[in-house]
Amino acid sequence: MSSRYPLRVRAVEWVNGRVRWINTNLLPYEEVYEESVDYERIARAIEAMEIRGAPAIGVAAALAIAAIVFNSTTDSIDQLQSVVLKAIDRLRMTRPTAYNLFWALDRIRRVALEQKHLDLEDYRRAIIDEALRIYREDIEMNIRIGEIGDRIIDDGDTILTHCNAGALATAAFGTALAIIRVAWYRGKRIKVIATETRPMLQGARLTVWELIKEGIPVKLITDNMVGYVMYRKLVDKVIVGADRILRDGHVINKIGTYTIAITAKRHGVPFYVAAPTSTFDLNSAIEDIVIEERSPEEVKRILGKILITVENVEVLNPSFDITPPDLVSGIVTERGFIEPPLDIGIRRIVEEFRSA
Ligand code: MRU
Repeated sequence: MSSRYPLRVRAVEWVNGRVRWINTNLLPYEEVYEESVDYERIARAIEAMEIRGAPAIGVAAALAIAAIVFNSTTDSIDQLQSVVLKAIDRLRMTRPTAYNLFWALDRIRRVALEQKHLDLEDYRRAIIDEALRIYREDIEMNIRIGEIGDRIIDDGDTILTHCNAGALATAAFGTALAIIRVAWYRGKRIKVIATETRPMLQGARLTVWELIKEGIPVKLITDNMVGYVMYRKLVDKVIVGADRILRDGHVINKIGTYTIAITAKRHGVPFYVAAPTSTFDLNSAIEDIVIEERSPEEVKRILGKILITVENVEVLNPSFDITPPDLVSGIVTERGFIEPPLDIGIRRIVEEFRSA
């Protein structure tokens, strides 16, 4: 796919009927690409966070279904549909919080259910095309987010970001990092502060790796340094991604986001969220949201290796938190910039478009 910006990092790709992804668990030490046509293998890659980040897991799940259909040898539509629906159910179980996964799989399910009147070849084509649209749209949406978000960046800004909302969390280009990329390509002299993002270290391992590859100046801090760097006035803006945004503007994102938003408010630092409209869940209330609780081992050991505590200590490991709308200065989507009050902007930019 051609683009007006370089796409240096492709986290998930479609390569001749196969799904290809960069194993983010091995970064920054090794750049290893995996390939598969097996949806169970791809489901396990999402669970193990080889593929991670809300848009990337939605794209990977859609392409996993496309790979089933592309490589299927059955001559029965019934049989093909039943395998597709079974795979969708399996992929939905991989991670509970990021909305893009459900959004992408619902799109594919709709085609699989509604296009069954077609002959087998056209039915296969319809499902594969929908998955490839989800994949291509993701990259296009991210580039638009970067261009629309450029208005919030001033020359000379230092931007703090949390976790990895970059190319490695999407098919390519990123969301929060799309804004940073476009500002950089347009010649703004910006700098980034990346939080390490315990326990899985997406900031230290992935964001730093991506930004250094682009040549964008980045400094790494531990998560507990955010208050002090803001107190020292070292941060002009915060930009983070999102795993799910509710219709009233609550933002669900990587654990630690809420603490950063509170700290930003205390220091008068604008706190922005960048997300495609595929991240917006217009139907759920806060009580419905499942915050993924991951293995205690992630907290007890550094990257599954060195034990940093007492072996049998009890651990809490929520993977995401919830930031209320009053802490959010604006949300950048591919359809426009949403200003506070967020609920009104979400209705105008996301809801009207979705029901159109
Ligand atoms: O657990 P992860 O690494 O999948 O969490 C990722 C995040 O929280 C990102 O900030 C979010 O998915 C937005 S990515 C564009």
